[in-house]
Amino acid sequence: MSKERWPACRVDPCRDQFRRLGGGRPTVFQKQTTEPVEGLEPLSALELEGRDIYRREGCVGCHSQMVRPFRAETERYGHYNVAGEQVYEHNFLWGSKRTGPDLARVGGRYSDDWHRAHLYNPRDVVPESIMPAYPWLFENTLDGDATPAKMRTLRQLGVPYTDEDIANATDDVRGTQEITALVAYLQQLGTVLEGTR
Ligand code: HEC
Repeated sequence: MSKERWPACRVDPCRDQFRRLGGGRPTVFQKQTTEPVEGLEPLSALELEGRDIYRREGCVGCHSQMVRPFRAETERYGHYNVAGEQVYEHNFLWGSKRTGPDLARVGGRYSDDWHRAHLYNPRDVVPESIMPAYPWLFENTLDGDATPAKMRTLRQLGVPYTDEDIANATDDVRGTQEITALVAYLQQLGTVLEGTR
């Protein structure tokens, strides 16, 4: 079959397409995936502890944090996620299961009180909910002993924590209820891109 009959598949356009898709370089070396979007800040000490509670409690098993660029998703959840929002994420919490809704842009969607009531017992606010209750988050408090070490490790991975952030981390979280940390984490999710809802 002559190449002329299939212009779209001739070598040059295909190579161009390939280059646009990343040219075969691992995506971690591309600027687009390593440059933070404007305004992206590292998580505060409290939000970081909240994120670790999110991991510990297995929220990722029922909730994704990845709005895909499909209309059905952007209508429901807001702007699709872009790589530059995720550059300080170690590890990623994209998830792969949606027993509950995607949470990538849940920040600001509900009040703190709503989240607290919902996490204490989801059925108090959403009667048909099958989400587990997390009452112990209201009993446990953080000691913050490990927070500076977590932040130092993240700094080695490129998260721009300052010496001051790290020096204050323990005081910033010590004595705080776990629920407060988790809600602080949820309330910032996806808020860096404006006009997302
Ligand atoms: C067994 C699956 C399951 C687990 C585990 C789970 N959830 Fe859910 N979640 C759901 C379901 C189902 C809903 C929808 C009903 C509701 O709102 O309760 C939901 C709803 C939510 C909502 C409201 C989202 C929205 O846009 O309306 C938030 C916030 C949330 N979950 C946070 C969490 C957090 C934080 C954890 C971990 C502490 C968690 N969930 C663990 C199943 C789960």
